[in-house]
Amino acid sequence: MKKLTFTFLFFAAVTSAALAQKYPGLALTPPMGWNSWNTFACNINEKMIKEMADAMVSSGMRDAGYKYLVLDDCWLSPTRDSLQNLQADPKKFPDGMKALGDYIHSKGLKFGIYNCAGTKTCAGYPGTRGHEYQDALTYASWGVDYLKYDWCNTEGINAREAYTTMSKALAATHRPIVFSMCEWGTNQPWLWGAPIAELWRTTGDIGCGWYIKPNPNGWTPLGVTQIIDKEVNLRQYAGPGHWNDPDMLEVGNGMPVNEDRAHFSMWAMLAAPLIAGNDLRHMSEETREILTNRGVIAVDQDSLGIQALRYEVKDSVETWMKPLEGGDWAICFLNRAAEPKAIDFDWKANVVKDTLSNRELNANTQRYAIVDLWTNKAMGTTQKALKGTVPSHDVLMVYLSKQIKKEKHKERR
Ligand code: GLA
Repeated sequence: MKKLTFTFLFFAAVTSAALAQKYPGLALTPPMGWNSWNTFACNINEKMIKEMADAMVSSGMRDAGYKYLVLDDCWLSPTRDSLQNLQADPKKFPDGMKALGDYIHSKGLKFGIYNCAGTKTCAGYPGTRGHEYQDALTYASWGVDYLKYDWCNTEGINAREAYTTMSKALAATHRPIVFSMCEWGTNQPWLWGAPIAELWRTTGDIGCGWYIKPNPNGWTPLGVTQIIDKEVNLRQYAGPGHWNDPDMLEVGNGMPVNEDRAHFSMWAMLAAPLIAGNDLRHMSEETREILTNRGVIAVDQDSLGIQALRYEVKDSVETWMKPLEGGDWAICFLNRAAEPKAIDFDWKANVVKDTLSNRELNANTQRYAIVDLWTNKAMGTTQKALKGTVPSHDVLMVYLSKQIKKEKHKERR
């Protein structure tokens, strides 16, 4: 009898684990898109969101890879309807969410939405707790492709269980919906998130700044460099279909252009989701060029999905290295100092062995061509040390390509 009970429990556990499987094959590279929160917070409405969809297309963002248009908090009506279904605020979204989703899809984009594992969202709108399957079906009926799921008003509940329930609810709709967990890294989601979600926030909210001094009397967002420091030891948890999320981009929201460039470069090195958070309708050409830099985006979207390694920190300059498909590498020298710093990097003297990915960068046995990813200029090869100056709060980001060696072979043939 005991044996039978055990066998039953064993199979029940296996079946429920199988049911917990998220929709397969989503976000094999880090998701890219736009989210309303960083610029608009609760000031969102149908007209603005449609304009943003138009701007994603006309600015070239969509063609550069930004696909998901995500409505963050405050899209909801303050109450559920008589059947307890979620409903959009009719004043902000008079045509409703299905029509908005159709509009977004008609632009070749995907539709993302926000809710919370708690009883209320962070801004106080109806949360999903106790309505997981119902809300998942509602989203599927509206054509939702991405759910950001927050962690406010969750007192006393278990994060892993709450996120697993929502993951199962999404899977039960049989619609491919990317699941973005947003519990700020509090319960170490990198340890348990991969089977249930495509991405998880690793930190508290980003703010628009290089370094944001913590306010001892209250909540403070984190600056770009403070977030980078929190990612250093998480690289083993990221990979195709399951990403560390160091929060959305603040590019174009007020930092100087060098800091925006460094922020964007580092998010690409970290294989982070690239979710823009600026007003795409009115961005400067400088901002547009940063957000649509194809070479840098390609580093982020590399199919191996390996998060960069912080190789060394020397005199306020950090050297980050990211192994790429085909044996190539991206290298980013990040200058965190308030003044410019000289770089003198001898490739041959620095044989990099990345034990996590089992890849080696060895200029003694392989010659690489070097291209500056921000100027697009060739910078010679790894035969010679790389010399240059990195301005304050900026980067030198280069692509190391094995290509030259192959071309040489071709010439010989
Ligand atoms: C939390 C999240 C943010 C944003 C707000 C909305 O703070 O971390 O990204 O979604 O809630 O209220």
